[in-house]
Amino acid sequence: MKTRARKGIFITFEGTEGAGKSTLIRNVAAQLESSGRLKERRIRLTREPGGSPIAERIRNVILEEPVDPMAELFLYEAARAEHVVRTIRPALDAGDIVLCDRFTDSALAYQAHARGLPWKKVKLLNGIATAGISPELTVLLDIDPAVGLARAQDRNRFEEEGVEFQKRVRQGFLKARSESPSRWMTIRVGSKPPEELSASVTREILKRFGKRFDRG
Ligand code: TYD
Repeated sequence: MKTRARKGIFITFEGTEGAGKSTLIRNVAAQLESSGRLKERRIRLTREPGGSPIAERIRNVILEEPVDPMAELFLYEAARAEHVVRTIRPALDAGDIVLCDRFTDSALAYQAHARGLPWKKVKLLNGIATAGISPELTVLLDIDPAVGLARAQDRNRFEEEGVEFQKRVRQGFLKARSESPSRWMTIRVGSKPPEELSASVTREILKRFGKRFDRG
């Protein structure tokens, strides 16, 4: 079943390292809460890899040390399958607004485009892991990869791979966006202060989904 047929609203946030996703998501959640438009709806914040107990354990495995690229893909997809079943689907069934830090497009950008695994295979596994649940809106936080890397703290092993890798990740996101442009909203980091960036995302969410909030 597609997300559209469910009561909840599923929104994902993507980007290269150091773009400021976590701050953006927190600000958007706060702005939506204070907009007075949500009626009965709750906001649910979650992230990948992770978002459920087993998926968080898989996250530790993935981020701890290098794994073979194909094994890495399966670990991300295993974590995703758990996350969807335990967290995302129940939240959407309950009518929540789910704001998720990274999702299937990260697998396309990192494992397919940057690591070099076949795009179609990653797409296929994404589809299997999510059982057809897909975001209705994806916010791409787009930053110059060199600037992002310089800003990133607590470098993980993807950040250690350097700017060329991050450039490929960015191209991967742009490719994913070109396959379904209407699902995406792109925010260029650096042009405006963080509160203005989050305000424009909040406005877009209210514009796209506000009528559904009103219907409850
Ligand atoms: P994290 O520290 O959460 O990074 P960030 O704050 O940038 O989101 O680490 C998650 C890493 O996992 C990040 O470098 C992107 C990567 N990733 C993939 O390679 N494939 C995926 O499918 C997902 C969800 C994340």
